[in-house]
Amino acid sequence: MIRLAVLVSGSGSNMQAIIDSTRNGILKAVAEVVLVISNNADAYALQRARNEDIKSVCIERKFFSDPKFFNDAILQELLSERIDLICLAGYMTLIGENIVFRYESKILNIHPALLPKFAGKGMYGRYVHEAVIRAKEKKSGATVHFVEAEYDLGEIILQKEVDVLDNDLPEELTKRVLEIEHQIYPQAIKEVIERKFI
Ligand code: GAR
Repeated sequence: MIRLAVLVSGSGSNMQAIIDSTRNGILKAVAEVVLVISNNADAYALQRARNEDIKSVCIERKFFSDPKFFNDAILQELLSERIDLICLAGYMTLIGENIVFRYESKILNIHPALLPKFAGKGMYGRYVHEAVIRAKEKKSGATVHFVEAEYDLGEIILQKEVDVLDNDLPEELTKRVLEIEHQIYPQAIKEVIERKFI
């Protein structure tokens, strides 16, 4: 069984989709989520982890004098739980180089747009959907990709499109994209496990 860690900052609906797929879906008997790390004490994802009886820890940047020490604390947790693969799921801060180096090609992220479009600093969550609507795009979607030390770079593993409708509101587009995020994230994890671990 591949040991997954999920890093979160917010609601954790993607984390939930991953957990569900390990219990009753395509990741069953393939992988298990053994650790959830949040950089935000108020993240609803922490409650979800407790509901699922999964170890969760909160590591907040503000308690460390330097980003390096913050990322060292995260790496320590990952290593002590013998994590094989890391899934960023609405993790709204840059992952440390120490982690990227130690887990090269073993870190995945989901982005709520069709990368390489609508990427980079400040392009996260709602801001992405607002930018897509402002640009009058006809299509948006979601992308799962490998993580490098820069935002939203790294090889694309899986991508799926959704239509952007006339007069779409950011909330409506968010919802439509989230639905496909929940489908493609477990699929992408499965592909990566088959490629790298089996
Ligand atoms: C998701 O839409 C995810 O793609 C996005 O944040 C949301 C988190 O929702 N991530 C980014 O924008 C990262 N650049 P969730 O907490 O319900 O999974």
